Formats: sequence, C-alpha cells, structure tokens
Amino acid sequence: MKQPAPADLEPIETASRDELQALQLERMRSTLRRAYDCVAHYRAAFDSAGVNPDDLRTLADLRKFPFTSKTDLRDHYPFSMFAVPREQVVRIHASSGTTGRPTVVGYTRNDIETWATVMARSIRAAGGRPGDIVHVAYGYGLFTGGLGAHYGAEKLGCTVIPMSGGMTERQVQLIADFKPDIIMVTPSYMLAIVEEMERQGIDAKKTSLKIGIFGAEPWTPAMREAIESKLDMDAIDIYGLSEIIGPGVAQECVETKDGLTIWEDHFYPEIVDPRTGEVLPEGEKGELVFTTLTKEALPMIRYRTRDLTRLLPPTARSMRRMEKITGRSDDMLIIRGVNVFPTQVEELILRDIALAPHYQLEITRPKSLDELTILVECAAAATSAEGDAAGAKLAHWIKNTIGVTAEVRVVQSGAIERSTGKARRVVDKRPKA
Ligand code: DLL
Repeated sequence: MKQPAPADLEPIETASRDELQALQLERMRSTLRRAYDCVAHYRAAFDSAGVNPDDLRTLADLRKFPFTSKTDLRDHYPFSMFAVPREQVVRIHASSGTTGRPTVVGYTRNDIETWATVMARSIRAAGGRPGDIVHVAYGYGLFTGGLGAHYGAEKLGCTVIPMSGGMTERQVQLIADFKPDIIMVTPSYMLAIVEEMERQGIDAKKTSLKIGIFGAEPWTPAMREAIESKLDMDAIDIYGLSEIIGPGVAQECVETKDGLTIWEDHFYPEIVDPRTGEVLPEGEKGELVFTTLTKEALPMIRYRTRDLTRLLPPTARSMRRMEKITGRSDDMLIIRGVNVFPTQVEELILRDIALAPHYQLEITRPKSLDELTILVECAAAATSAEGDAAGAKLAHWIKNTIGVTAEVRVVQSGAIERSTGKARRVVDKRPKA
C-alpha cells in the first residue's frame, strides 16, 4: 500500500481546521450570493423563507436556508437552475432516475477543472500515482461516472483506457493485454468481470490490477472482503452524485480505509433528520445534505441527497469523513413495519461461501400484506444441496438480525441479471396504486 508523501497532496488536504473553515465560510457566502442573484428559483425560495445571503455569518447559519430537492431540478428542467448564461456551460450530464424527467446538470469550464481536480485527488487517495494505467469501466455518456473518472485520471498523469461499461469479454481481454494498475467500475460490475475471467480460465488474483475504485451504488464491508479475496487488490470506496458534481465528492483513503473523506473545500456536508429536516449533532446518523462551495453553472444549496450516513472526525486528511453509505431512503423497504435495506441482506449473504454475491430483493403483495423474497445465487463451487442449506440459514439470519420474515430462493449461478453499471437490487412487483 502506497502512503502519499505530504508533498504529493494539495496543501488544503493537510490544512488546519481553522484554515479550512475560513475558506468554507468565504466560499459559502459567495455561493449563496450568486445563487440568489442569478437563479430565480433560489431568489424565490430564500425570499419566501425570509432569508438573505447576508444572513450567513457563520457556517452554522446555513441551516436557516431552504433545502433544494430533486423535484426542484425537475421543475426547472432542463436548464433553468443554471446560474450562468447557457453559452458558458461547456458540458451537460443527466441522470435518468426511475420515473419522470431526467435530472439535468451543467458545468462551466472551471467546473470541469474543479471536478478533474477532486477526481485526481480521489484517485491519489485510493493509492493511484502519475504513470499508472487506469481502466475506466464506468459508463461514458450522460452518466457522470465514465467522464468524471477519465478527466481525473488524466489530470493525475495516468494513462487512461476509456473502456466504458459492457462488452465484458473484451474488458477481460484488455485487462490481460494492457495490464492496468487501477480499475474504476461499479462493485457489482467488477464481480461480473471476475466471473468472465473465471470463464476464460484467467486467475483473477494474478491480473495486474492492484487498486479498484468502486462506487455509484451501495456496497458493504463484506463485499470489500469478497472482492479483495477474489482479486489481489485494495478495494476503495468512491462517492458522488450528479447534482453535486458527479464522482469525487468523497473518497476513502487507502492508508486508513475508514470511511470516505469528504472534499470539504468544495462540498459542505450536513446531516439532517430525514423526517423533520432538523440538523443533527455531529456523529448522528441521518440524511446527507450538500452545499456546493465552488460550482459555477449549478450551485446547489442544501441539496437533499436521500443517502443515509453519519459524519466522522478527520483522520487521513484535514477534512471530515462520512461512514460508508448503507442505503438511500428511497431503497428502504418497509416490510410489515420493519425497515430493510438491501445492504443488510448483502452482509448476511456474504457470510456463507455456498452463496454468491448476486442477489435481488423481490417485493410482492399477494393479498393485503407485503412479502419479501430474496433471490440469491448458489456459489459456482457449491452443490445445490449446499446452496439450499445456506438459503435456509440465510432466512434464519434475516429473521434474527433484521427482524423480518423472508422467503429465500437459491437460484443457479448466472440466473440473476448482471448489470454493466448500477445493479438493480430491488424488484417491486406490487400492484401499482
Ligand atoms: O453515481 C456518481 C458516481 C459515479 C459515483 C461513479 C461514484 C462512482 P448518480 O448517478 O447521480 O451519480 O447517482 C448518485 O448513487 O446519491 C448514491 O445513492 C449512489 N452512490 C454513489 N456512490 C456511492 C457509494 C453517481 N460509494 C447516487 N456508495 C448517490 C453508496 C453511492 N452509494
């Protein structure tokens, strides 16, 4: 594992908290001012909440300002939340979401530069160095994963292979031929690539890959262990969302692997109670909210991410960390009054070597009550009897630790759809209201 020499880091990564907070306050003030002056939505929202940018005297004053939500972006589809004339927007990305209009985001030239900077910082924090070969298997296109990783890796001085998602056979061939040091991909698609290596008779432990930078979907510490044992690599978490910039909002540092350092000089985090919107004391778990501090085209004020986590004190850098995301409030299933996240089920599946980490939670309503079925694959090396026994054990663990009754159906290897990007963990088969 490579420790970054202090000289490699940007000065702000090791600045004092006082210095960082002074910078945050100055940047927050100018972001609020620009949002108010240049975006009709923010002006109206601040006015109706009775606040003015000048009311921000300390960082804590941010809580006086109104939240921004995905609905606000949809209501101003496509470009009306931009704070600069459209001609200054050099790039558009969009996330499709499950329903309705896509969420559109825009970047000025400076925003693209900021994004490349935080991504380069992220790759370095994961252990990447100039000269490394980086295989990017996040999707290129409207999704922010591919191009975000690409610009960051180039800025760090790496050799980039812009592979995108899909064509799994070819991914494996190019990993064998080009010998990349780093792969950037969703953790679920990494598993599909490993399966393809096995199919081709390639020992996944012997590839050139030393670092995997995985994100765009929740994945558990158990999944980290599973990936690190299949591939001889450090599996590192990267977090981000289109509305805030894309990947590179927060990044786990390889030397500590203790949650994700938030690049707080650009993105200011708060944790709020998802029901009341009250700011929670530091360390409590709730919904993550971000205010951008340097974005030009699309300043975001108190954006409700719906991601659930807690803030932790700094360790490897001066910036605070966030705990690995356990799920989004949207992904939470409520089965007969019990909250269930797919990641809770993932942790339990990975306890048993007779089960493979390919799974889906299916929710149905045969009569008046919701029922949960877990579809999980039998490990390739296990017999079907071993798989069935593991399935029975899993149902028992789910009952005991999550507190919900679930039917577990162990299916044969390969039966669950493989995604080339974000995995679909929940299949809702309830009748539409
Ligand atoms: O997924 C950006 C990204 C690309 C992040 C590549 C990391 C790597 P969106 O499509 O807008 O952007 O989806 C953002 O994905 O609110 C989280 O719910 C989820 N997410 C992203 N990273 C993680 C992670 C990209 N490391 C949404 N752990 C976010 C858990 C994650 N969830």
